Amino acid sequence: MRRSSDLQPEIADESAWWRDAVFYQVYVRSFADSNGDGVGDLDGIRSRLGYLELLGVDALWLTPFFTSPMADHGYDVADPRDVDPLFGDLAAFDRLVAEAHEHNLKVTIDLVPNHTSDRHQWFQAALRAGPGSVERDRYVFRDGGGFDGSVPPNNWPSQFGGPAWTRVPDGQWYLHLFAPEQPDLNWDNHEVSADLARTLRFWLDRGVDGFRIDVAHGMAKPYGLPNIDPRTEIGAGVMHDNSVDPRFDNDGVHEVHRMIRKVIDEYPGRMAVGEVWVKDDERFAKYVRPDELHLGFNFRLVEASFDADSVRAAIEHSLGAVRGLDTPPTWTLSNHDVTRHVTRYGGGAVGAQRARAMTLVELALPGVVYLYNGEELGLPDVELPDWALQDPIWLRSRHTLRGRDGCRVPLPWEGDTPPFGFSQAPTTWLPQPNEWAGLTAESQLEDPESMLSFYRHALELRKSHSAFNGDDLEWYGAPPGCFAFRRKGGGLICALNTSGGPVPLPPGEVLLASGPMDGNQLPSDTAVWLA
Ligand code: GLC
Repeated sequence: MRRSSDLQPEIADESAWWRDAVFYQVYVRSFADSNGDGVGDLDGIRSRLGYLELLGVDALWLTPFFTSPMADHGYDVADPRDVDPLFGDLAAFDRLVAEAHEHNLKVTIDLVPNHTSDRHQWFQAALRAGPGSVERDRYVFRDGGGFDGSVPPNNWPSQFGGPAWTRVPDGQWYLHLFAPEQPDLNWDNHEVSADLARTLRFWLDRGVDGFRIDVAHGMAKPYGLPNIDPRTEIGAGVMHDNSVDPRFDNDGVHEVHRMIRKVIDEYPGRMAVGEVWVKDDERFAKYVRPDELHLGFNFRLVEASFDADSVRAAIEHSLGAVRGLDTPPTWTLSNHDVTRHVTRYGGGAVGAQRARAMTLVELALPGVVYLYNGEELGLPDVELPDWALQDPIWLRSRHTLRGRDGCRVPLPWEGDTPPFGFSQAPTTWLPQPNEWAGLTAESQLEDPESMLSFYRHALELRKSHSAFNGDDLEWYGAPPGCFAFRRKGGGLICALNTSGGPVPLPPGEVLLASGPMDGNQLPSDTAVWLA
């Protein structure tokens, strides 16, 4: 990991390894399949650690691999302290952690504290025990409205479409902000927090280096569960602005994060990052106060279009949200919940060219970067046929929203036909397109012009070159549709051109460009690093 001369003492502290780390998100189902069932697994990841080391990332984030009926592909956890047989077992997990550490890769895992699976023994007990029981108090059960209780307790929608309430046979309703198979836990119940502490220690004792906290802005619910003002427009899907939405970002959530932090502090060198879909900078900042999460995902870059002003605004907000706090900003272009950025930026050759440019912008910024598996291969979203779709969003939206499967298609490793070395099975859990023959890791490793070689080169420079030192940046004047910023410590300049035509290149020695330069001109859809 890069250690620079002008770092403040606490940054130079080896135990705060995450402060400038590049994390690589492994969507476990789709990374590598070792046992030929068409679904990725833990031993599959282990078999590809050499690749990840070669790529040059510092840490992994593994999506949920815990016991689950897979209603939301593992984000419905039936036992948070065991491995689902689909992905392996605890021994496979221990092997993976040990070998990852030998490859100098940290291992962080997902935690899902907002809800459990409906197959979790607590929920099954709650169904059996009936209204008013201690078992039901671990979840959010309520009586319905109307003379016969047939009206849901409030008007909250589920993030996956339809109401956030499901009625059980004895007439009560339970809350699920996501699928009905994901009942929300009651975070006012002390057993719930005690159980999460137990889960944290269970995995910390097994050697994990940290956690990604799912729906970190959820958990706490407002007193009395008030209706959403019907005039408010609540966005659909997993992510949207929560500022007017009583379901998320309630003040009580910070007590949960303080509890999580206390447990993690018992284990030096471990960390937590929260999935914080909170737009307001000041409210976002609360999640990363010194006694809460180490890092918060800021999704501003995901939401920015390929336009210099929009990207600059995203950067300024992300920096502003953590200014004055002892926490670095985080940067993400893609994850398992959003359309891959090659596709967002227009798809095809143009989308790939812009994706390269945005990769340079992202890797030029101070702080923490999260890459999503396959972006280093330039994978686009896949337009899957209806029959292949599996995301609960597709079903719950009554086939009006296609959901997130398009960004979750298994990775192409080698060969000319699906499954491209992902699996021994002829078919994979989501089908891969034939066109991915040109995007396999194997074909890109040897090609110096490939997206993969470009990522490797950029990551290597980011890690080793002194131009990347320092935590602050300053903006230069730039032509319309362009920007240029400079890292104040090391002096790296990053310029982006989204204007549609060439512009003069700022002075300096070119360290890396996202595409071919045109003499002293920076072409459109291109970014460059200068020292
Ligand atoms: C988070 C996850 C998403 C999941 C949801 C419910 O937003 O990233 O994949 O569906 O939480 O757990």
